[in-house]
Amino acid sequence: LCNQLEDAEVPVHKTILLGDSGVGKTSLLVKFDTGKFESSKFSATVGIGFTTKVVQVDDSKVKLQIWDTAGQERFRCVTHAYYRDAHALLLLYDVTNKKSFDNIRAWLGEIKDYAHDDVVIMLLGNKADCGSDRAIKREEGERLAREYRVTFMETSAKSGQNVELAFHAIARDLTSRS
Ligand code: GTP
Ligand code: MG
Repeated sequence: LCNQLEDAEVPVHKTILLGDSGVGKTSLLVKFDTGKFESSKFSATVGIGFTTKVVQVDDSKVKLQIWDTAGQERFRCVTHAYYRDAHALLLLYDVTNKKSFDNIRAWLGEIKDYAHDDVVIMLLGNKADCGSDRAIKREEGERLAREYRVTFMETSAKSGQNVELAFHAIARDLTSRS
């Protein structure tokens, strides 16, 4: 009971994973949640669901309610409904897929249309482990992030690079604003 009471006082921040189909949204969340990575099969997300994770920021706890969305075009209208009350958005592209990077501008346009003005946005270049297949340099990601005044990191759901760091950075940013 004590634990439940304590838990109830932890602020909940709604965070949404966005980006083209196949960039690794589900993989990133699974890695953060379980530490595991499944490379054998790609099964596109169809519905929408969330995972709750408690993150420690200095002396306080922050609860992230992380929503994994379906990147496929035909599910976009469903996703839009979730933008409105989001506190943070993790926008992913795949560093081996130029189209997913070029589409980031369109995603940022949708965010402008559907999300709160003060939503925290972080741009993530995922699949940073794919050295030889890389199509987008880190500097290109950094430049785009600077242009839109959002934070940026390269991640890998496979190696785990920056996965914890990205979610912790979001949690820190959210606590500093609330
Ligand atoms: P939708 O649900 O359709 O929107 O796609 P998604 O963004 O959730 O992509 P998903 O996580 O299903 O990953 C797509 C494919 O990329 C899968 O085969 C993953 O194993 C692979 N993948 C995801 N992240 C990484 C990564 O960091 N590195 C490598 N090498 N492969 C990855
Ligand atoms: Mg998915």
